[in-house]
Amino acid sequence: MRWSEIMRARYGHDTATPRSIDILAVESSCDETAAAVIRDGRIVVSSVVASQISSHQRFGGVVPEVASRAHVEQVTVVIEQALADAHMTLADLQAIAVTHGPGLIGALFVGVTAAKTLAQVSGAPLIGVHHLAGHLYAAALSQDVEPPFLALVVSGGHTELLYVNAQGSIERLGSTRDDAAGEAYDKVARALGLGYPGGPAIQAAATGGDPTYIRFPRAMLDGDSLDFSFSGLKSAVMLHLDRERKADRSIRVADVAASFQSAVTDALVQKARLALSSTSQHTLVLAGGVAANAHLRTRLRTVCDDAGARLIVPDLRFCTDNAAMIGAAAFVRYKQGKLDDLTLTAQASIPIDQW
Ligand code: KG4
Ligand code: ZN
Repeated sequence: MRWSEIMRARYGHDTATPRSIDILAVESSCDETAAAVIRDGRIVVSSVVASQISSHQRFGGVVPEVASRAHVEQVTVVIEQALADAHMTLADLQAIAVTHGPGLIGALFVGVTAAKTLAQVSGAPLIGVHHLAGHLYAAALSQDVEPPFLALVVSGGHTELLYVNAQGSIERLGSTRDDAAGEAYDKVARALGLGYPGGPAIQAAATGGDPTYIRFPRAMLDGDSLDFSFSGLKSAVMLHLDRERKADRSIRVADVAASFQSAVTDALVQKARLALSSTSQHTLVLAGGVAANAHLRTRLRTVCDDAGARLIVPDLRFCTDNAAMIGAAAFVRYKQGKLDDLTLTAQASIPIDQW
């Protein structure tokens, strides 16, 4: 549907300057159940996140079945809270948005079913959002983010270098060939006994540690590929821990954490630098849960300064999974008239170029 048709359908007339667009967004792709009301793609009217961290902590990672059950319990609670915080009812909304993939399929179904029900009851259009596009547009909640730009999306499930062209289409330039960066953080943290989620725990443990204690491998740094690999790094950390334990030496947790963090960051930063120079782009958006990492943010800022590029990072609270970012991305689709209908379904994987 085109913009003018949406306006005519909703307001009975065509208008180039419609009143503000309020979108209710729902996110349930992994271990956070979240709902938010976003105005015009950038104002966070309300944002509610129910974290399942405590449910998964004792397993050392996300258990899909546990996640699905927790989403069922929480989804209506967060939606009602987001509407109450926004002082709105369903009748005030111009669209209902939801993450429809990629992610844990059982978890996604909960959010998608809730959003479809709300869309049917309210008559508001439905917008399915790709989870990674959500991470990308999290930055739009605090700054102007106008395509074209490059994006480095680093989360628990993804490590991707993306190019968003002037029309807003997303092209993948590189991605991990094995583990995602966040996954490596989580696995190494578990091996170090630091708990779940691993990223914040390693960042905290690395403070005061010696990043040069061990030179762990930096894979894929040679050549002009923009792909990543983190499984060799993870195995090298495991081997080191094994060797130390067998030799009855105590583990220097801060030093190992700092050395590991430095190796992950080197790989991410190096590929970001290469992407900037090979595409001659001048804007880089950093996004995803690992974008919360202070060391990565600092190092990337230096790279962008040196390259004369602008680095855009979301507010910390919008780096990890939330629904506000889904509302921000949904607004981009809304403006383009890319709406879905009630045949929308959850998909465990969706190519980013089809977002
Ligand atoms: O984007 P996100 O919330 O969920 C996914 O879509 O995967 O990302 C979660 C990931 C986890 O692997 C977590 O350990 C990592 O982001 N993370 C961090 C930090 N905060 C979260 N990694 C490094 N440093 C952090 N401060
Ligand atoms: Zn995510």
